[in-house]
Amino acid sequence: MPRDLAAGMHDLSFATTEFVLPHTVLAEHNGTDIAKYHVGIGQRSMSVAAADEDIVTLGAAAAAPVIARHGADRIRTVVFATESSVDQAKSAGVYVHSLLGLPTATRVVELKQACYAATAGLQFALGLVHRDPAQQVLVIASDISKYEADSPGEATQGAAAVAMLIGSDPALMRVEEPSGLFTADVMDFWRPNYRDAALVDGQESVTAYLQAVAGTWKDYTERGGHPLEEFAAFCYHQPFTKMARKAHRHLLNTCGYDTDEERITRAVGQTTAYNEVVGNSYTASVYLALAALLDQADDLGGRSVGFLSYGSGSVAEFFAGTVVPGYREHLRTGAHREAVDRRRPLDHAAYRALHARSFPADGGDHPTPEQTTGPFRLAALRGHKRVYERR
Ligand code: COA
Repeated sequence: MPRDLAAGMHDLSFATTEFVLPHTVLAEHNGTDIAKYHVGIGQRSMSVAAADEDIVTLGAAAAAPVIARHGADRIRTVVFATESSVDQAKSAGVYVHSLLGLPTATRVVELKQACYAATAGLQFALGLVHRDPAQQVLVIASDISKYEADSPGEATQGAAAVAMLIGSDPALMRVEEPSGLFTADVMDFWRPNYRDAALVDGQESVTAYLQAVAGTWKDYTERGGHPLEEFAAFCYHQPFTKMARKAHRHLLNTCGYDTDEERITRAVGQTTAYNEVVGNSYTASVYLALAALLDQADDLGGRSVGFLSYGSGSVAEFFAGTVVPGYREHLRTGAHREAVDRRRPLDHAAYRALHARSFPADGGDHPTPEQTTGPFRLAALRGHKRVYERR
């Protein structure tokens, strides 16, 4: 029998970038049939970070409303999950801790395993809450995905941050035991320390992802998880939203069910609305799927939702959450829609200029142009130090 941990997600908030590139603009530039983007991979636009935005400013923007609503008195741990880290040593979470004015009596750490790390953060958080139910953990997943210009991966770029407040007696979703786990040493997507843009073998990443779906589900069922039909919906990691459909088709196949499109739409159709306009936000993606589901679905109170968190390389986890009755009063639907709608569209040349940007590594004083209208900005790189401002 699955075991309700009586702990889980108390709040969920996401932020995205100042700019957006519609796929119509990319298609016009590279001569691609727009149906390949809209239908073939299921993407309509991608969030593009301004010159003065990064994973820190996005993470702080996602977390600020959570702190404003709940205060920081019970938060003793901040976990920052990212693939697009800004420093090899210092956790991006420490900058966020400072920007949000969190208490000094806090532990802060950064976690990495491609797109999976936020789920590791969630599980670590649940362990800490289990040890001391008075404590809350702020888990932030923040990423700016970057692939080579004119590569197949370019159309699957994106950026967003999710902040999740994890605690006992949660308002949104209780997380259950067991989890189904799967790790395999594959080279489907990776980014050596000397590279800005990820390397990806697209077809291999689809194959590796599907193997992880079957692997996690096998472990999940062997450990006494719910049968498939008990789930109201499934939130998958979405490097592109069509992947959620491929993944669910594979899961249905693995379980011996029919794989008709209507059945797949019922399971994942309400989880893709944010990811299809934001693009791949790596660690944040699976939780953006949850935000879309909660913001759009009819009342899910008391229902089970399945999560498949996949990080290339690869590590994956399947787990279940039970949506808490009354959760709708605690959603941030208006703010989420505003975060998406407020983005300013870029033309192709402006997007390319931002894509090509990087800071000189000479230790000089390099102020950034003031572009973002968000609450936090990266003002400069000065003497190798990142300088942030709060508005
Ligand atoms: N109309 C409708 N669909 C079309 C189309 C058109 N004109 N042209 C192509 N398509 C479909 C293809 O049939 C295919 O669908 P399918 O996979 O269901 O068969 C889909 O569009 C993609 O086409 P493909 O030729 O495979 O595209 P690609 O070589 O450009 O690669 C990705 C697509 C997603 C693999 C590539 O963008 C990528 O590698 N992205 C990064 C993925 C990643 O980050 N993975 C790691 C994390 S999980």
